[in-house]
Amino acid sequence: MRDEDKTKEQLVSELTELRQRIAELKAADTERKRAEERIQRQLQRLTALREIDIAISGSSDLRVTFNVILDQVTTQLGVDAADVLLLHPHTQALEYAAGRGFCSAALQHTRLRLGEGHAGRAALERHIISVPDLAEAEDGLRRSLLLADEGFTTYHGVPLIAKGQVKGVLEVFHRAPIDPDQEWLDFLETLAGQAAIAIDNSTLFDNLQRSNFELSLAYDTTLEGWAKALELRDMETEGHTRRVTEMTLRLARAMGMSEAELVHVRRGALLHDIGKIGIPDSILRKPGPLTEEEWDIMRQHPVYAYEMLLPIAHLRPALDIPYYHHEKWDGTGYPRGLKGRQIPLAARVFAVVDVWDALLSGRPYRPAWPEEKATEYIREQAEKHFDPQVAEAFMELEMEGVREL
Ligand code: C2E
Ligand code: SIN
Ligand code: SIN
Ligand code: FE
Ligand code: FE
Repeated sequence: MRDEDKTKEQLVSELTELRQRIAELKAADTERKRAEERIQRQLQRLTALREIDIAISGSSDLRVTFNVILDQVTTQLGVDAADVLLLHPHTQALEYAAGRGFCSAALQHTRLRLGEGHAGRAALERHIISVPDLAEAEDGLRRSLLLADEGFTTYHGVPLIAKGQVKGVLEVFHRAPIDPDQEWLDFLETLAGQAAIAIDNSTLFDNLQRSNFELSLAYDTTLEGWAKALELRDMETEGHTRRVTEMTLRLARAMGMSEAELVHVRRGALLHDIGKIGIPDSILRKPGPLTEEEWDIMRQHPVYAYEMLLPIAHLRPALDIPYYHHEKWDGTGYPRGLKGRQIPLAARVFAVVDVWDALLSGRPYRPAWPEEKATEYIREQAEKHFDPQVAEAFMELEMEGVREL
């Protein structure tokens, strides 16, 4: 082989490598952008649920509540129009109650028997009816005529079920094809759940407790989606958030925290590293140790969490973990340098679990530790990093064999 060819070959190979590297960088960037978009979307959805919550508890006028819900349905799900049909208990007919985004008032004359049309089927069969192309679908003749001028393409009808009873149907319409993912469908069902609660609330006030329970379930589903998006960006090992949340709840219970406190502990654990949203990838994903300047930035992540969560009223009681999870028993932690019992119990509990799970997981900056080494570390750090009582309770749970999940 002549020298010239060799150089050429080398050049080609280097060029190929470079192309590959650029493609990899682009892919990583796209993935990060996608994760950030998801985080934003979850945040908006959480805020939407909060607004609906306020409308439900603050208004006894169902139409006002429906208007708030329909606004959120159309904006959060990105659809052209939506309406609520109520099932009248005596006539068993679905009638129009409120709508958004329609060109004409024709649909206000909707009246469907159970089983009639898409909405009637959603109510009768008690599941979501999805129609990707209305033009090709058979619907009750009268409804087709009412719909003809609107130019809708896709349709979803979700039954509104409260306490096992069908109360109505939430319908969403779009004038172009949409290809909804599972998250979109889940959020549609969550919003339908809120509408069902609103209907139920307006007729009966004695179930306030139950509806509050269902509302917090809706919040928590959204929080879980949020936590997953964070994990993706952080390149955390799959399931880190779920594992630390479950272990933290067990340990907090063992430390005597009440079930009422645990509601907030759970949310705090799910969101513990939400502040890392404010940390650039170049630091978060750095393969080696951080420089002093980089540490200054990294140590801000609990402060970012505090600033992000403080304005969300129902997450404020969950702030102890995101804000204080890097404080240390001996006062050498951050961001406040709190000492001993100045650190909220929830954060003292969480710190042990987070470090344990972090050590057992691989990180961009080091490989995973074997379990014995991690156990030894937790023991050794009692009274330094950790509350000695919490560290001891953690060891006891380990001996009972319930620590691994
Ligand atoms: P993280 O990776 O989730 O780690 C959470 C905590 O677990 C750490 O808090 C630390 O208390 C403990 N931990 C994790 N790995 C080790 C380890 O190898 N040895 C020991 N002794 N403890 C460990 P910390 O130190 O405040 O760090 C907070 C976050 O800062 C970490 O979260 C990680 O995202 C980042 N970080 C920490 N050290 C490095 C590093 O050397 N390189 C890079 N790129 N990031 C780092
Ligand atoms: C809410 O309605 O704000 C959820 C209930 C809670 O914060 O525990
Ligand atoms: C909590 O974080 O909810 C409890 C704080 C404590 O008991 O120290
Ligand atoms: Fe952290
Ligand atoms: Fe963590």
